Amino acid sequence: MSSERVADVARARDEALALIASSSTLDELEQARIATLGQKALLTQVKRGMGALSVEEKPAVGRALQEALAVVEQSFAQRQGALETEVESASLVQDRVDVTLPGRVGPVGHPHPISMMLEQITDIFLAMGYRVAEGPEVETDWYNFEALNMPPDHPARSLWDTLYIAGAPTLLRTHTSPVQIRAMKAQPPPIYVIAPGRTYRRDAFDASHSPMFHQVEGLAVDRGITFTDLKGTLDAFAHEVFGPRLPTRFRPSYFPFTEPSAEMDVACPSCEGAGCAACGRSGWIELLGAGMVHPRVLANVGYDPEQVTGFAFGMGVERIAMRAYGITDLRHLYDSDVRFLERFAG
Ligand code: PHE
Repeated sequence: MSSERVADVARARDEALALIASSSTLDELEQARIATLGQKALLTQVKRGMGALSVEEKPAVGRALQEALAVVEQSFAQRQGALETEVESASLVQDRVDVTLPGRVGPVGHPHPISMMLEQITDIFLAMGYRVAEGPEVETDWYNFEALNMPPDHPARSLWDTLYIAGAPTLLRTHTSPVQIRAMKAQPPPIYVIAPGRTYRRDAFDASHSPMFHQVEGLAVDRGITFTDLKGTLDAFAHEVFGPRLPTRFRPSYFPFTEPSAEMDVACPSCEGAGCAACGRSGWIELLGAGMVHPRVLANVGYDPEQVTGFAFGMGVERIAMRAYGITDLRHLYDSDVRFLERFAG
């Protein structure tokens, strides 16, 4: 009887060890555990039947059972450890990130033609030693007009169709010239600044007008500055933008804040002065307004017109960009049509 039980135990042990060895996943191992150590398992039954054994049988069966359980449990532990390690290394392999793979590159844009032109103009003057000055787009009447030698009711104010802010004593600056005033009030002479920025006028939106556009203002005030300096500086600028071959010309003009005043033209880049549709058959393109800073403007900011003189200029960026890039309708610049804008990519 006892040897039969001992044989049962040995068989159950061997079956358990075989089951453990053949378990290839943690789930299968759990099934094996239930089959060999669970309620219905042979080893459990032998254990439960111990009480019914005779005193002579008990020691041999009990020893065999304990040994078998120890061996089986140890085998479970080993197999479990091995399977866990396998799972872990499999997930390490699966989740491995190849850091040498190239990343996903999203679509890359490029600067807008107006930004490109602004940057080109700015860079030309930075290279000449100017620095960039800024001012607000919502201005006071004093900075936009009065300090620029246009007292209230001055007829020249009608040169700019001004957008006023309702209910406030402010306006949208009609030009970048108020930045001249702000820059001079902020520091004593000498001063060499350019002021790129947005400007606003009460204009209809058409092929050559927009209620919002960009200007670049320039101002140089120092001892002994003459009209020759103005011409030389602006000639150098035009040649940088349009190439050294195209001639420039200065025409007398009028601005309340400069005296004398001038407008500068450059020979039409399309026909090189012969006259074509792009330049209205004149052979010339208007580039900018300029002049010697009016002594009254210098006095308004506390500069001594007896000690220093200066020149100022202001140019429309859209107009120059259209000429430089051959754009015929201003509205293209604001339509955000990617097919148009892509023509100006790098
Ligand atoms: N502010 C003038 C305009 O908008 C341009 C200008 C600037 C003229 C500086 C002379 C000097 O038309």
